[in-house]
Amino acid sequence: MSRSLPLNLEELKQNAKVKLYIEGADKYLEAIGYTEHNVRHATKVSDFAGYILKELQYPEKDVLLAKAAGYLHDIGNFLGRQNHDQHGALLSRDILNDFDISIEDTIRIMGAIGIHESEDIGVHDPVSAAILIADKADVHRGRVRNPSMVSSDIHDRVNYAATESKLTVDAKAKTIILYLMINTGISQVIEYFEIFLSRMIVCRKAASALGCEFQLYINDTRMA
Ligand SMILES: [Fe+2]
Ligand SMILES: [Fe+2]
Repeated sequence: MSRSLPLNLEELKQNAKVKLYIEGADKYLEAIGYTEHNVRHATKVSDFAGYILKELQYPEKDVLLAKAAGYLHDIGNFLGRQNHDQHGALLSRDILNDFDISIEDTIRIMGAIGIHESEDIGVHDPVSAAILIADKADVHRGRVRNPSMVSSDIHDRVNYAATESKLTVDAKAKTIILYLMINTGISQVIEYFEIFLSRMIVCRKAASALGCEFQLYINDTRMA
């Protein structure tokens, strides 16, 4: 019989499959020239997702499921970048089978992972909404593997130009705000929009599913 709050997040992070999948995903993405997707990104998305739901006073279980989904969200990349969201959802089922967790909670985690790259979203679960925002909020120069290459790759350039990023939730004002400091000597703000406009639209939809407005500030100016 499954318990109602069964998942130990630390045990999940130490699970041998989880470690190998994240390691494999990051190695594959490094080989194809993508930004860092290792334990640092997994931890960041897990922390952001948990923070969003905690600040908005969602139940403890939702916060835990969001943290778990955030940690696992990119594991599918070791099977290739394409469809890594759906692959990750199915791999997470395999992992969660090792834990004493209800099928209902497993499905919520799978659902959040399975739509985390989708732009055409209809978010019905706060856990999914939190993952969508948390993943997009991890923009930072620390994710660029080879700073000497930033001049040739717009994704690297935009990430490298982000010298500071901060996600805040104001439960009273019902706002979720992403603050970025961009070094415009490396990347112009317009490049940021070229890469991130679709992601910002997703963040807005996801925030709205949480009853909030999403706001983006770049260099202290409100952009969205
Ligand atoms: Fe992803
Ligand atoms: Fe991600």
